[in-house]
Amino acid sequence: MKIGVFDSGYGGLTILKQIRERLPEYDYLYLGDNARAPYGVRSFECIYHYTLEAVEYMLGQGCALIILACNTASAKALRTIQQHDLPRINGEATPRELCSLGTPGERLVVSGKRIVNVLGVIRPTVEVVPTLTRTGHIGILATPATVSSESYVLELKKIAPALQITQQACPMWVPLIEAGEHMSEGADYFVNSYLGEIMRRDPEIDTLVLGCTHYPLLLPKLEAYRQKTQDTRHKTVQFVAQGELVAESLADYLKRHPEYETQLSRGGNCLFQTTDDAQRFADAATLFLGQRVQAQQVTIEN
Ligand code: DGL
Repeated sequence: MKIGVFDSGYGGLTILKQIRERLPEYDYLYLGDNARAPYGVRSFECIYHYTLEAVEYMLGQGCALIILACNTASAKALRTIQQHDLPRINGEATPRELCSLGTPGERLVVSGKRIVNVLGVIRPTVEVVPTLTRTGHIGILATPATVSSESYVLELKKIAPALQITQQACPMWVPLIEAGEHMSEGADYFVNSYLGEIMRRDPEIDTLVLGCTHYPLLLPKLEAYRQKTQDTRHKTVQFVAQGELVAESLADYLKRHPEYETQLSRGGNCLFQTTDDAQRFADAATLFLGQRVQAQQVTIEN
């Protein structure tokens, strides 16, 4: 059985890369729903429906554990999938089984000998971010859907109620990355305008969370903004990418949950699948991961 890593497109590769570095022994399936990206400008119903289709598809491909390497799907679809759909999909778990196997807030599904679960990327990020700020002022850069869900604000406030949190929706960043235009001069306009806006709204921010897994691909541009800015306070702002945090959290999760760990196969392989053009995906992924990648085009709609 494999670990599935899902994103609307290329962004989840920033998570997969770190997970495979941390846990190279397992087998992985990466699925990018590039044909329907971006998710972050869509409604709850649409994001939930697309994410559920992807999860059902990946379960059918032999994944025991699926990481929604997408903040938008984690914010909008994860809870409903964990609480409503996983029990329905397998339909064999009794409440007693769920209780004995799950930790609070989690649902597990028992299907014969198979136990599957779906995890997100927001919780592992939120657990670390409060330890990184000196000023106590944090900025969240994310898709419009993640921002409107308030997931980061709600989760961070539970852990660190005194934090000052400012959110900034960046609707053009994912489309730029999916189109391969993120290093273009045209991208500068949208990088500067969203960063300028959030730093204007709270100049005390010292920590900016890249709350979308696509955004690390913009890091050279984000660093360039920091170099160029005239405001000395902005020069020391740190950008927090999620890859390492999610990888560390998954390693810890597997240690605490042998019921998943023991099901996983250990071949060190990764299969790449996309709902759009396979060659285009393979070229982009090869460039990003720094190793030759082959991809398959698949259909995931029910
Ligand atoms: N990588 C996804 C995220 O983390 C991007 C969502 C989108 O497709 O807009 O939110």
